[in-house]
Amino acid sequence: MRDPREELLAAARAGDGVTELRPGLWLVTDPPSTARLLASPDAVTGRSAPRRDLTSWGPDGTATWMAVRRALRPVLTAPHLEPLLPAIAEQARRTTAAWPVPGVVDGVRAAVRLVSDATLAHLLGAPSATLSALVDEELSAAGRTRAVLGRPVLGRRSLDRARRATYDAVRHRVRADPEGLPALLAAHGFEEHHITLTVRTLLLSGHHVPASALAWTFHRLALHPDAQDQARAEALAHPEPGADLPFCRGVVRETLRLHPPVWQLRRQLHAPVAPLPAGATAVFSPYLNHRDAAAHPDPDAFRPERRHLRPAPGSYLPFALGPRSCPASRTALVQLTVLLAEVLKTHRLSRHRDPGPSRGVLYAPDGLALRVVPVNA
Ligand code: HEM
Repeated sequence: MRDPREELLAAARAGDGVTELRPGLWLVTDPPSTARLLASPDAVTGRSAPRRDLTSWGPDGTATWMAVRRALRPVLTAPHLEPLLPAIAEQARRTTAAWPVPGVVDGVRAAVRLVSDATLAHLLGAPSATLSALVDEELSAAGRTRAVLGRPVLGRRSLDRARRATYDAVRHRVRADPEGLPALLAAHGFEEHHITLTVRTLLLSGHHVPASALAWTFHRLALHPDAQDQARAEALAHPEPGADLPFCRGVVRETLRLHPPVWQLRRQLHAPVAPLPAGATAVFSPYLNHRDAAAHPDPDAFRPERRHLRPAPGSYLPFALGPRSCPASRTALVQLTVLLAEVLKTHRLSRHRDPGPSRGVLYAPDGLALRVVPVNA
């Protein structure tokens, strides 16, 4: 089975950085054009159907979402997350303590569990198995839909059912405990419906995407035991959650370079943005830009020490760039670093089954299985 990223890589290598794939559809890989186009207010988010549904809130939906984005900022900053890190780390310890050791764990499932608990604790103050299962089901249902003429048709009913179930459960939670994020949004004048949609959007976005990043990180460290030892030594030397762990953070950043879970982005141009005309659809691929040898020498090599380098604009974009980039990029990095450190303090990871080529919208290490043993065994 051919990896879809390799096909895009071949198209990019045959082009010159801005390549017309078919009339109106452009692949943009040259870093300055990537940065310029993504930063432009005239480049409007165009997503795959299930993804578009996340923040498509009906008429005036984009304007409402952008106002919500601004209001949310204080929650998606490190100072908000820091006091929650001890509880997030403690929860991760409880989860990993239940791993069969020595034994084999499903890398993606393990990462989803760790990340979902952490995201719920960050946004709502505590994990919730019910919400986590509903979010998982909605994302799986979205992944099962099949589009006809760009609209999800097959599997649409089960997606609608799953979406209603998540919405109802989030609304119930917001009513039962309006403190924190719901209170912040209410103070900005948002009504219950938009507060519910916001929490749901954040829970969905903070589930499979960061979990894929964590699972890839596990895989990379299983492939590179020296880097794993170095990351573990750093985590053990600074055991308090939230301690500065530059090497562990470098491992996460380098993994996001090689394996950006959101490997493709689309934007539609409402006005010309050089070098493209109005009406064009631009496709960007963090995966391709991250493998550009000019920006990242020896691009296929895993080198956490690249953290000392400052990539040129448009050559490192796991969280996208511009007005519709990931609003949680900073907190996601902190969260993943803390989760990784907690796992490494107690467990050694090695290869059991490597992932196969990932064919979904998300670039995830499908099929990854890891052998885990206790550190002091
Ligand atoms: C390693 C972790 C993460 C990565 C790599 C990542 C990556 C991305 C990327 C590339 C986008 C832009 C997608 C596009 O333009 O089509 C995005 C959007 C978004 N992300 Fe993240 N993300 C991560 C974690 C999170 C977390 C933890 C949350 C929530 C707590 C979150 C919430 C969102 C939201 C709400 C959007 C939509 C923004 C908008 O449309 O204005 N992300 N993310």
